[in-house]
Amino acid sequence: MTAELACFEAKCRARFAVTDVIYNCPRCGGLLEAVYPDRHVDAAALKRTWRERRLSNAPLDQSGVWRYREAIPFLDGTDRIITLKEGNTPLLEAPGAASYAGLDALTFKHQGFNPTGSFKDNGMTCGVAQALRLGMQRVACVSTGNTSASMAAYASAAGLQPIVFIPHGNISFGKLAQALEYGARTLQVEANFDQILALVRVLAERLGIYLLNSINPFRIEGQKTIIVEMMDQRDWRPPDWIVLPGGNLGNTSAFGKALREMREMGLIGKTPRLAVIQAEGAAPFHELWRSADRAALRAVEHPETLATAIKIGDPVSWPKALFEVLSSNGVVEQVSEQEIADAKAQIGRCGIGCEPASAATLAGIRKLRAAGTMGAGDDVVAVLTGNLLKDPDYIYGYHTDGLTAPGGGKLRSTFGNRPVMAPNDAQRIAELLES
Ligand code: F0G
Repeated sequence: MTAELACFEAKCRARFAVTDVIYNCPRCGGLLEAVYPDRHVDAAALKRTWRERRLSNAPLDQSGVWRYREAIPFLDGTDRIITLKEGNTPLLEAPGAASYAGLDALTFKHQGFNPTGSFKDNGMTCGVAQALRLGMQRVACVSTGNTSASMAAYASAAGLQPIVFIPHGNISFGKLAQALEYGARTLQVEANFDQILALVRVLAERLGIYLLNSINPFRIEGQKTIIVEMMDQRDWRPPDWIVLPGGNLGNTSAFGKALREMREMGLIGKTPRLAVIQAEGAAPFHELWRSADRAALRAVEHPETLATAIKIGDPVSWPKALFEVLSSNGVVEQVSEQEIADAKAQIGRCGIGCEPASAATLAGIRKLRAAGTMGAGDDVVAVLTGNLLKDPDYIYGYHTDGLTAPGGGKLRSTFGNRPVMAPNDAQRIAELLES
């Protein structure tokens, strides 16, 4: 199997060796993607193989990424793969969330069940495999938290040194704690995500450090398997919609690429529509979507949202994401801080829970339902990108009337669930519970 890097720009499409250490097209500056020019598959046989591997005890077969290795054949061997048994994330029915959004039924694919608690693990096992193949010793990323947690874990497991750059004071404590515990050199920079990314790109080149942000095409390959696994779990019946939050737009790029390739390989017969949801204060992609010509993304200079995972004003992957949303006949929507907070509490009430950015999905679905873009009977899968425990401060704030929106306004604790102080007295506690 031949694997190459290709420029994503339609007017360029220059090809490069899969082992070149490049993050943008050296000719035109466009984004890069992995391509497999001579891939031919027997779709039915592949589906059987993938299903059989679920019964296997071989480490790679137990990974929800590498089980589908024929969908991401960029390596020339499997000996350099470090797996923490990523992927394997469940589809969960959520009737309560469905009725909140105005749908008959709703399914969540919960990426928070990953080893470090977010969808980043799907991509990181691939990015780290490529780093090892290239003989790199240090890897780096700038992150709103989840990428750094994931990179720290996989790099340390692989014996590489992880270097993490985070916007000071702007990531949740759970995620920062993970980076520290997994042994990353952690630099808190006095700048926002977009500014730090520009900085890190210069540093990576100068110091020979391998960059594992979602601009890295091999991470995108890994994140494709979220969709492959979803379809496998649904016995290859594509839903009408796949809904996801949009930040740096790597996941949108990965999902769209997965869908296109799965159609080409004959694994699915129709393409679900992608619905990308952004937070109002950090919604440059939504702004682009609404613009007349959709020619160029205008960065939001000071992105603001309590959903810190998607607090990004200048998403690097927007050209890919725009192409994928258009290719899937998809949509882009934005939601308010209040809508995210209330949707998140509703997901919690289903016994499922997620981090704030993930809840943008349910808030977006509710809005798209109200506008008639989605029908009540539509088959919808929303991807919950991160675990509930990533950001406990936000949760406590919401339930105790303590959340303040970035602009200063107080958020309503619509579905609040305040803890109650109780005396050390059985009789009075009994009275309290009966009242
Ligand atoms: N949801 C969560 C929980 C995230 O951590 C991120 C991105 C997104 C959604 C958005 O995904 O960037 O592919 O559009 N987090 C990155 C990070 C930026 O550094 O952890 P995207």
